[in-house]
Amino acid sequence: MSGPVPELEERAERCADALRDAESVLVASHIDADGLTSAGIAARMLERAEIPFESVFEKQLDDDAIAGIAASAYDTVLFTDFGSGQLEAITEHEERGEFTPIIADHHQPAEAETAYHLNPLLEGVDGGSELSGAGATYVLARAFESEAGANKDLAALAIVGAVGDMQTTDGELTGANVAIAEEGVEAGVLDTTRDLALYGTQTRPLPKLLEYASEVYVPGITNDSSGAMRFLDALDVETRTDGDWRTWADLSHEERQAVLSALIKRAVRNGVASEKLDALVATTYTLAEEEPGTEVRDASEFSTLLNATARYERADVGLAVCLGDREEAYDAAKELLAQHRQNLSSGVRWVEEHGVTAEEHVQWFDSGDEIRETIVGIVAGMALSADGVSREKVILGFANKSAEESKVSARGSHALVRRGLDLSEVMGEASRSVGGDGGGHTVAAGATIPRAEREAFIAAVDRLVGEQLD
Ligand code: C5P
Ligand code: C5P
Ligand code: C5P
Ligand code: ZN
Repeated sequence: MSGPVPELEERAERCADALRDAESVLVASHIDADGLTSAGIAARMLERAEIPFESVFEKQLDDDAIAGIAASAYDTVLFTDFGSGQLEAITEHEERGEFTPIIADHHQPAEAETAYHLNPLLEGVDGGSELSGAGATYVLARAFESEAGANKDLAALAIVGAVGDMQTTDGELTGANVAIAEEGVEAGVLDTTRDLALYGTQTRPLPKLLEYASEVYVPGITNDSSGAMRFLDALDVETRTDGDWRTWADLSHEERQAVLSALIKRAVRNGVASEKLDALVATTYTLAEEEPGTEVRDASEFSTLLNATARYERADVGLAVCLGDREEAYDAAKELLAQHRQNLSSGVRWVEEHGVTAEEHVQWFDSGDEIRETIVGIVAGMALSADGVSREKVILGFANKSAEESKVSARGSHALVRRGLDLSEVMGEASRSVGGDGGGHTVAAGATIPRAEREAFIAAVDRLVGEQLD
């Protein structure tokens, strides 16, 4: 018993035993960064054990998707980063002898029971903030390995999954995720150091890094491109090489210190409260074996690169990058990333221009066909720090899924969760009340509903959130 998460060890051993009995395995996973890293861990683990496998990715594990999986020739299906919430449908197929399910997930489990089910929430570990789908799959990979510690190198992918699911609190991973990060450090694949906590330290040119830093607002620098450049040019630090701006990753330790202390001085002079400034520095999760200055060196940038693939029907590209491709698939991923960034920023701009409609406890927007249903959740989360959007209320973002159905993503805050908010329950109950389905986590959840039921759905969500916050 030497797994990273002792509470899950027994379940992990049971799932690992079931896997060892499999002749071949179908890995079914979710189309986001956590789902791709989960599949990457599963793929490596099976490859090392010489068990043949194939991977499939789904936007949502609905009844049709499960039926499609059941119709495949595989007798063993490993579900990663989803499955727990769809246990009822999965066990129906299991009872008909169509496949043996093994589940490594962190979403709110449904009532049904199954023999091979690895989920932190079943053992009192918070699946919303302490362990991701990739983390659960990593726990399985450690139980499954044939030589002690052989799969510890997969911890790097598990951390990318956790960061991609936004499991950091005040910039730090907590609980079970920390134990996994420590194993990654031991294996030499991860560095955890305290450094500047802004998004884009590896790939953004310095002025863009500072200009786009929504984490901490510094007057005259944040959202001010010429202000950011003037600030950098005034420093006694080489911020350009041959006229091109350097990145944070290019700077030496001393140069970083100089930029950081000037930034703090400037912020204090402009009246930024010192508690806010604490957020400038936090633990950063660096993939030690990757080339500095690339999209795969920092866990947060890596996760965005992955989201840019599978959410655009190119999970094959994202999985190849997880498995170490730094040539063809990597180049393809970078191209998808450029488009993804444009889609996100035009999505947020759309919300700013059209505004949100405020109900008593929630606010919402319906982007129709303007924002892809696979990224409307990311846009809703980013919109929480946009102009005209309240940070104190839950946000719902709708997007058309088909002529009849809408996809809806809900995002809250940790402060609301502390007051009783559970969006998984709200989205599940409200969607089912109008003939749809949904689920997720306390702070972030989603659903599919009939388009004609939007108003009734919003009313149900508003009422349920109100009851929870009482
Ligand atoms: O399906 P999955 O668990 O991978 O998705 C989690 C989703 O919840 C991600 O899109 C993530 O960005 C979102 N989330 C969030 N805020 C949090 C935690 C998670 O927006 N604090
Ligand atoms: O990692 P995730 O996909 O959740 O991040 C959402 C997007 O927000 C990223 O693709 C990134 O481009 C953007 N982002 C940003 N500035 C930040 C944080 C994230 O532009 N400070
Ligand atoms: O799609 P979105 O990013 O909004 O998803 C947020 C969370 O809700 C994810 O964890 C996702 O797996 C979950 N979800 C769900 N059922 C749905 C839609 C989303 O469990 N129908
Ligand atoms: Zn996840």
